[in-house]
Amino acid sequence: MKFFVDTADIADIRELADTGLLDGVTTNPSLIAKSGRDFMEVTKEICDIVDGPVSAEVVALDHETMMKEAETLRRIADNVCIKVPLTIDGLKTCKKLTSDGTMVNVTLCFSANQALLAAKAGATFVSPFVGRHDDNGFDGMALIRDIRLIYDNYPGFTTEILVASIRNPVHVLESARIGADVATMPPAVIKGLFKHVLTDKGIEGFLKDWEKTGQSIPTA
Ligand code: G3P
Repeated sequence: MKFFVDTADIADIRELADTGLLDGVTTNPSLIAKSGRDFMEVTKEICDIVDGPVSAEVVALDHETMMKEAETLRRIADNVCIKVPLTIDGLKTCKKLTSDGTMVNVTLCFSANQALLAAKAGATFVSPFVGRHDDNGFDGMALIRDIRLIYDNYPGFTTEILVASIRNPVHVLESARIGADVATMPPAVIKGLFKHVLTDKGIEGFLKDWEKTGQSIPTA
């Protein structure tokens, strides 16, 4: 499963890219606003740090303007992935852009039928929002299971399931169990995946015993 980070915070992106475990970045207008940075400038900076897809979202609602915005965004770098909303105009834009070889992430997906439409539009990624689905009394992971089942029924579909709106490590675990292709996570969730109290306790115990040996491992 690929790991994307869902942020426009450069310090977090650098820190996670340094682990060698980061496969891409997703942003949205809210995350850009939170960063306080210029959209074009911060997107360029992210694209320079990460080799994988960097999602940058259009804000127009009509197909023609979406195409114009996408044109501007895709000029930023080769690894820009244009993010469009799951609407008729968004999917029209997706179809057009992907037939030209541009990566497209179809966002704000809340039903399996919407995911089916995104695949038919040739989306590179579809982003079902599990956290917001849960918040509204639906079962976010059931949505991922349905989309996986449908996509597996049609091997011609190439769209990758990018689980978005992840709020905790259990969402990540369940996504991996189901076989989602990508999980995009807030930095804190990715960092949390490394943590286990028994790992910390184990290191502490080993180091205590190692000290008793009076030895050291040569590092030069
Ligand atoms: O980038 C889209 C998605 O991950 C947003 O998450 O937490 O705002 O629902 P959230």
